[in-house]
Amino acid sequence: MQITIRHAEPADVPALRDLYAMPNAQAGTLQLPFPTLGLWQQRLEQSGVVALVAEVDGLLVGQLSLLVESNPRRKHVACIGMGVRDDWAGKGVGSALMAAALDLADNWLNLHRIELTVYTDNEPAQALYRKFGFTEEGRARDYAFRQGRYVDALYMARVAGSVSR
Ligand SMILES: CC(C)(COP(=O)(O)OP(=O)(O)OC[C@H]1O[C@@H](n2cnc3c(N)ncnc32)[C@H](O)[C@@H]1OP(=O)(O)O)[C@@H](O)C(=O)NCCC(=O)NCCS
Repeated sequence: MQITIRHAEPADVPALRDLYAMPNAQAGTLQLPFPTLGLWQQRLEQSGVVALVAEVDGLLVGQLSLLVESNPRRKHVACIGMGVRDDWAGKGVGSALMAAALDLADNWLNLHRIELTVYTDNEPAQALYRKFGFTEEGRARDYAFRQGRYVDALYMARVAGSVSR
């Protein structure tokens, strides 16, 4: 199986909307039900965003955004958000996206710290992040509302120079 990583294009908007309408992709992120095409159009146009997608045989199967901080004192920091189609989870797509994003961060964008939040019950995502050198920095109680209940999240980060890959 060949996973191709490339930058997102405007033509990807419907596939991104469809990906985040899937139950697990929605439950693992901050996406709301019934995502619109307009929302994803805006996201791709947002300044400071590096938006990557993963494709297999022409199907968009995953997405990862690096949102680089605009404050000059935080310009060494970016935040990651990502999702893989429910029917493509566990097949290496998330790993391929993360490897490409960290290569960009380390070797091209000179980003020193990459941070993210992940729900405490999202074990596959935490395993992926640990595999790539992210460590836990704290817990946010009642971080978000999901399917009628509050859910806690972990703050995780990867600081370049403190990990070996
Ligand atoms: C979390 C997510 C991005 C992972 O992507 P993926 O393509 O499924 O991940 P991979 O197949 O590359 O697996 C990466 C690692 O995760 C771990 N993993 C994968 N599936 C797992 C599972 N069901 N349970 C526990 N660990 C799992 C493994 O350690 C794996 O590494 P390995 O195969 O080298 O052992 C994806 O499942 C997803 O989009 N989930 C829904 C949305 C979401 O949660 N986004 C993240 C928000 S913080």
